[in-house]
Amino acid sequence: MDFSEKQLTEETNRLFQALKKTGWSKADCEVIAPLTLEINQIKKEKNTIILGHSYMTPDIMYGVADIVGDSYGLSKAAKETKADTIVFCSVHFMAETAKIMNPDKTVIVPAIAGCSLAESITTNDVRELRQNYPEAGVVCYVNTTAAVKAECDACCTSSNALKIIEALPQKKVIFLPDELMAKNLQPLTKKKIISWTGRCIVHEEFTPETIEEVRKEYPNAKILAHLECMPEVIEKVDMAGGTEGMIKYIEKTPAKELMLVTECGLSDRMKVEHPEKKIIGSCALCLYMKKIMLKDVLQALKSPTPEQIIDIPDDVIKKAKKALNKMVKITERYEK
Ligand code: 13P
Ligand code: SF4
Repeated sequence: MDFSEKQLTEETNRLFQALKKTGWSKADCEVIAPLTLEINQIKKEKNTIILGHSYMTPDIMYGVADIVGDSYGLSKAAKETKADTIVFCSVHFMAETAKIMNPDKTVIVPAIAGCSLAESITTNDVRELRQNYPEAGVVCYVNTTAAVKAECDACCTSSNALKIIEALPQKKVIFLPDELMAKNLQPLTKKKIISWTGRCIVHEEFTPETIEEVRKEYPNAKILAHLECMPEVIEKVDMAGGTEGMIKYIEKTPAKELMLVTECGLSDRMKVEHPEKKIIGSCALCLYMKKIMLKDVLQALKSPTPEQIIDIPDDVIKKAKKALNKMVKITERYEK
């Protein structure tokens, strides 16, 4: 596609306004400007919406995504969109969630990206757990495949896990697959949580020592951690929650220095959206999420391969939708 000098200069400037806060140079923006222009033009022509998780690189979040959010926000956006096609820039299970919410729409992933949590459990494992604990309700974290969701009573995300556990009628709840999140939730509920052995290989890397070092160097900083971190880390931080919970905290806190104990994409997002705050310390990269690149978005938008188009059997959609709808219903009760 050919673009005029004027179009290219304007696009470079638009990109640089956002990306400079995450260390991108004007020359870097100049290189990607033709790509973002082409993606944004084709997106309009094809009545397509691009959704991007907060763990994407800044060029995707601020160059081409129409909506940037956490797993819950994006699954709601997928449900509400009027676009015919959704290009979902995130890991595979999140795109599957969009398809379950919207079976009539075409959902495309730019790269086939897994997740250590989603890969830790199979449908047979869930059936076995049910047999072992017939009295328990089953809540699955959104980081599971569509087939696993179809075996569960309700789904949850990091932003509503506790609400969903509390809302189930059973006193015992199987919470899967995140062992560390289950440990972090247990002290917050009277219900007995039975967990699985999955772990997020990105968040489990953070240690209490990392937090102590940052505390020494920045005594006034507020430290926020994702619930997928180990309990020993969660104990030492000022706030623990999901991606969206952390964003809301940052919006409200008067603190000027913050450490985000999570994936680097969120730190990048906060640097762009809250330039008045200083994001300190180190973050961690999710190589699954970072598999998605701008060039893949363009290719997927132009001519997706069958592998990139999410296809889920009807019976799985029907059952998984029940678990997801239950989550939405319970969460909306709290939002009113
Ligand atoms: P959120 O539910 O916070 O978007 O997180 C999903 C995820 O993969 C976290 O590692
Ligand atoms: Fe999965 Fe962890 Fe990556 Fe989130 S950060 S997608 S839980 S591996």
